[in-house]
Amino acid sequence: MKFFIDTANLAEIREAQDLGVLDGVTTNPSLMAKEGITGEENIRAHYKAICDSVDDNVSAEVISTKFEEMIEEGKSLAKIDDKIVVKIPMIKDGVKSIKYLSSQGIRVNCTLVFSAGQALLAAKAGASYVSPFMGRLDDISTDGVSLIQQIVHIYQNYGFETEVLAASIRHTMHLIQCAEVGADVVTCPAKVIMSLLNHPLTDKGLAQFLADHKKAKEAATAPVG
Ligand code: E4P
Repeated sequence: MKFFIDTANLAEIREAQDLGVLDGVTTNPSLMAKEGITGEENIRAHYKAICDSVDDNVSAEVISTKFEEMIEEGKSLAKIDDKIVVKIPMIKDGVKSIKYLSSQGIRVNCTLVFSAGQALLAAKAGASYVSPFMGRLDDISTDGVSLIQQIVHIYQNYGFETEVLAASIRHTMHLIQCAEVGADVVTCPAKVIMSLLNHPLTDKGLAQFLADHKKAKEAATAPVG
């Protein structure tokens, strides 16, 4: 299972990369805006800095919504670095753009996917990744993990190579549920990956081991008599 980090914050990306378990980064226009990155040159420079911080798989989203503009923007984003995966929204012109860009050897991540039918279209069009938004479905009382499971099942039925990239992951249980149903990738905030580390029995056990070691060492070095 691949772990992507869902942020445009360079410090967070570098910290996650340093842990040694990061496989990529997803961004979106809201995340870029949150970092105060605006203007074409700044945006391109920021994507380049992200690419230089990780091994591969940096999703960069187009802003255009018309076919001709989407493919021009997609081609231009792909030129920033070989690690770029162009992120295209699940709309009619988006499906056409996925087909075109994929045929040119450009990897595409189809975003804003909320149904199995949309995921099927993205795979048929040749997307490398499909991003169903689990958390946003849960937000409206719809079972996000069932959709992930359904897409994994459909892709297996037909041998689609499109990877299921579970997005909008809010907490560790989301991540574990995605692993249980066979999602290929999860993308989440850094704190979700870091939270996987936590267990009170690990902390308690380590404290006990270190205390016992210290006691034994003190006993061994204490003066006799
Ligand atoms: C996916 O690529 C999106 O950037 C992201 O996961 C959206 O998450 P949110 O619903 O927490 O904004």
